[in-house]
Amino acid sequence: MIETQEAGTGAAGPRNLAKILVVDDDDQILKQVTWALSDEYRVHTAGDRSAALELFRSEMIPVVLLDLGLPPHPRAATEGLQALDEMLSRNPLAKVIIVSGNSERPSALKAVERGAHDIFPKPVDIDELKVVLSRAYKLVALESENLHARSRDWQAPLEGILGDSVPMQAVYSAVRKVAAAEVPVLIQGESGTGKELIARAIHNLSRRSGKPFVPINCGAIPEQLLESELFGYEKGAFTGANTLKPGRVEHAQGGTLFLDEIGDLAQPLQVKLLRFLQTKAMERVGGRELISVDCRVVAATNRDLEKSVKENQFREDLFFRLAVVTCMLPPLRDRGDDVLRIADHLMAKYSKELCQAQKRLTREAMEAIQRHAWPGNVRELENRLKRALVLANGPAIGVEDLELTQLMARSLPAGGSLKEARKDLEREIVSRVLAESKGNISKAARVLGISRPTLYELIEKYGL
Ligand SMILES: Nc1ncnc2c1ncn2[C@@H]1O[C@H](COP(=O)(O)OP(=O)(O)OP(=O)(O)O)[C@@H](O)[C@H]1O
Ligand SMILES: [Mg+2]
Repeated sequence: MIETQEAGTGAAGPRNLAKILVVDDDDQILKQVTWALSDEYRVHTAGDRSAALELFRSEMIPVVLLDLGLPPHPRAATEGLQALDEMLSRNPLAKVIIVSGNSERPSALKAVERGAHDIFPKPVDIDELKVVLSRAYKLVALESENLHARSRDWQAPLEGILGDSVPMQAVYSAVRKVAAAEVPVLIQGESGTGKELIARAIHNLSRRSGKPFVPINCGAIPEQLLESELFGYEKGAFTGANTLKPGRVEHAQGGTLFLDEIGDLAQPLQVKLLRFLQTKAMERVGGRELISVDCRVVAATNRDLEKSVKENQFREDLFFRLAVVTCMLPPLRDRGDDVLRIADHLMAKYSKELCQAQKRLTREAMEAIQRHAWPGNVRELENRLKRALVLANGPAIGVEDLELTQLMARSLPAGGSLKEARKDLEREIVSRVLAESKGNISKAARVLGISRPTLYELIEKYGL
C-alpha cells in the first residue's frame, strides 16, 4: 500500500520533473531517449533487469519504458516479462510501456495481458512518445488521487477517538459501515478499550443521531432494580411506586439504546429483553399495555459472551439477536504507537483542566508506556496520567510518577533458581517487545535498551 501511494508523490523529483525509467540493453537508444526527454522528465536508465528494479524501487518511478529483450537473454522476452511482473507486484499502479520492434510483437501483446500499460513501436518517434507519456502520467496522478481519497475516507479516526494504528483503522471502517445499517451491534473488548465511545460513534453516524442515545449499565444496577430501570413501572406496581415512571427503553424512542455490560444481565431479564427485541414492544412493570418502541440496540461486553452461551449463562437466542454484527476492540497494547499519541493528547488536555503549564514525558517514561501491557487499557492510561500530573513536581513526567517501575517484578518459579527465573523473564520480555514492535529489530532494540547485535544473539539463544 505504501508503495502504491508513493507512486503519486514520487512522480516529481528535483526541479519538479516527473521521473521516468528507460530500460534497454542498447546504449544508443538509452542516450537518444534521455536526450529527447530530459527537458520534460527526470530520466533514469538501466541496461538490465536487476538495475532496472533497483532504480524502480529506490526512486519510486511511476512510468517505465521497457524493452523486453534484456541480457542475459537479449533474444527472448523472459527477462523483460519478469521485470514487468516484479515492477507491477511492487506498484500495481505503475505504468509500464513496452517498447518493441515488429518481430517482438507477440511477446509485447503477452506483456499487455500481464498488465503492461501500452506498447510503443521501435524505432521510437519522440513526438508520439511524448504524447503517450503525458497521458500515462495523467492517469497515474488520477489514480493515486483517487486512492488517497478512498483511503482517507476509511482510515480517518472517528470524532473524539484517538489512534490511527492498523487495528483501529479496521474498527473505524467497521463502525462507518454498520452505523448506516439498522442492525444490532455487539461491541466486545477488554475493559477500558473504548466500547462506550464506539457505541456513541455508531449512534452519531447513524440517521438516529438527532434522537437520544440512552446508555444503561446492566452490570452496575442490582437485578431487582434493573427491570424497572429498563422498562419503567406503572403507578402502584409495587410499594413505593407512587407515580408512573417510563424506563430507559422508552427514553430511547427513535434513538439508540446502549446496553453496557450485557454479559451481566440476569436470566429473567434476558427473556424479557429478547421478547422486546423480537416484537419491538414492551410492558412497564405492573402494566398491561404494550408500548411500541423504535430504537436501535447496541450492546457491549468485556466478557467472552460466546463462552457464556456455551456455559448456559447467556441465552443463545438473545446472543444471536444482539450480535448480528460484532465489533472487536483491540487492547491498547496491540495498537502500536497509539498509546503514545493518546498519552500526548491526554497530557495536554489534563494540563489545561488543571491549569498547569504543559508537562512532557521523559524518554524513559515513554519507553515504559510502550512496554507496559495496559490491562486496564485507555482508562488505565487516563488514570496514571491524571495522577502523575497532579503529583509530579517538575516539568517532566517520569517512570516513577506513572508508577510503572515495579511491573516486571514477579515471584520465582517453583523449584527454580534465580538464574532460571532471569532467563525466563529475559525470554518473555524480549519476545513481547519483539511482538509489540512487529518484528522491527531497531525499534525493539531501542525499547529494550540493547544493541541490535545483542538482540540478534538473544533471538537466536531463545529461538524466537
Ligand atoms: N481511542 C480512544 N481515544 C481517546 N480516548 C479513549 C479512547 N478509547 C477510550 N478512551 C477513553 O477511555 C475511557 C474508557 O473508555 P470507555 O468507557 O468507552 O471504555 P469501555 O470499554 O466502555 O470500558 P469499561 O469496560 O471499563 O466500561 C473513556 O474516558 C474514554 O473517553
Ligand atoms: Mg464501558
